[in-house]
This record gives sequence, structure tokens and C-alpha cells, in this order.
Amino acid sequence: MSATAHKTAPMPDDIRARKGGAPLVSLTAYTTPMAQLMDAHCDFVLVGDSVGMVLHGLESTLSVTMEMMILHGKAVKRGLSRAMMVVDMPFGSYEEGPAQAFRNAARLMAETGAAAVKLEGGVAMAETIAFLVARGVPVMAHIGLTPQSINTLGGYKVQGRGAAADLLLADAQAVAGAGAFAVVLEKVPARLADRVTAELPIPTIGIGASAGCDGQILVVDDMLGLFTAFKPKFVKRYATLGEQAEAAIAAYAREVRARDFPASEHVFADAVPGAKA
Ligand code: KIV
Repeated sequence: MSATAHKTAPMPDDIRARKGGAPLVSLTAYTTPMAQLMDAHCDFVLVGDSVGMVLHGLESTLSVTMEMMILHGKAVKRGLSRAMMVVDMPFGSYEEGPAQAFRNAARLMAETGAAAVKLEGGVAMAETIAFLVARGVPVMAHIGLTPQSINTLGGYKVQGRGAAADLLLADAQAVAGAGAFAVVLEKVPARLADRVTAELPIPTIGIGASAGCDGQILVVDDMLGLFTAFKPKFVKRYATLGEQAEAAIAAYAREVRARDFPASEHVFADAVPGAKA
């Protein structure tokens, strides 16, 4: 078991209280078995809308639905007993305004058992975050590269370079001021991420940001080498499970074609008289 494992799941306030302390550890998960593997090692697990690209083969996160998030949220929850679960609000489920956001956030939490939701956006989402928090919905914010906005951002580019640094700082201050308990900083220059971390009263969770953030998150299929369509610079592959899986499948196919599988130890003998079936 990891040194940071919890006996019971932390609450959003416990995550907030980790500001400036031991780094928060987090990964995405979409299925029960993967959630079980990370439960003892992560402070929180994110059911990210990256599920659309990683498991469903979608080109972006834009067509991920509430139903997909609920299905995967329920599956992940069944695999967790120690780590807190956060569920992403999919594109189109919160941007219209606070009332729409509350309706969908409440549904996500009620149907999946998530302790909190995550939504993308800074200054533009501050009013919505304040509305949700005031009504019992803990919010993790996500600023910097916000993949649901790739069409207006012009692609998966580093955010906050040069003059844009002030805009990113304003986004960070806005979500913290609105009551978010933590904020994900995605694809932000390391010095800017350090500055945001120093200035903000809530934990920063980096992905392509800085080792100085209050915590880190990665997409689990990226770090395990299961998702190989592309590899962003900020991903470190801790394993090459995709390659291993393909080699295993190829070996199976060879053995089936050669009639080497199943072997005698994989098949059943005739009934033995007197033995139970
Ligand atoms: O959907 C996701 O996986 C995310 C993380 C990359 C932070 O939002």
C-alpha cells in the first residue's frame, strides 16, 4: 500500500487542506478493475471525459455525453474504497448557465456517487462555480489547455505563454475566489504554474505544468502505454502494456492457428464415475 493511502475516502475539503503539503496523487480511471488497481495509491481518481478518446475512439472529448460519464462513473465507484472520485462534466452540460450546470452536476453526483465534479473554464465559469458550491456541489476547476475548447483555442497548444500569462492568472484567481476546492493546470509553462501555485490558496493539480504543483494527474492509459495513438510531451510512460497486450494476442492467434491452444491442461476429461460435476 502506498504511503499516502487513506483508510476512508477523503472529502473535497481534505484535498483542499493538502495545499502546500505532500503532493496529491491522481490518475484518471474509466473501469472498475483499473480503479481497484489505483485505489490504494491515489488521493483522488478522476473519471475524465478523456474516456471518449481513450476508450471509445472519439477524435476529441466534444461528443462525450452525460450517459457515458454516468456509466463510467458508476463503474469506477465500484472499484474505489479509499480514493475520492471526481467526475468530469461533459461538453454542453454546464456552459449554458448555473441552473443547467447544477441540474447536471447533481445528476452526476447522485447517479455515480462522485464526491465532486470537474469543469473546464476560468473567469467565464466563476459564476457557475460559485452557484454550484453554494448548493452543495464541490467543484474542481480546469484551466490552461481545456480540451473541450480546442476549436476556439486552435488546437492542443501550450497556454499562458507571454502576455497570456496574466489571463491564466486571472482564471486561476477567479476559480479559487468562486470556491473551487482545487484546480487542474493543463499544458502551462512551468514557471507560470509555479507562480499560480504560490499565489493560489487552493491546490494546483498539474498535467504538463510543473513538479512544483500541489499534485499531479495523468491519463492512466497514457502512463501505462495502453493509449498509443499519440504521446504528449508531458506523458511519462511507466509501462508498455499496449505492446505487451499486442504480443500476447499475436501469440494466441499463432497457437490457435497451429492447434497448440488449447493444450491438454485447458480441456476437460470425460465424466469420472462417482465424481461431482
Ligand atoms: O479528461 C481528463 O482526463 C482530464 C485530465 C487530463 C485532467 O481532464
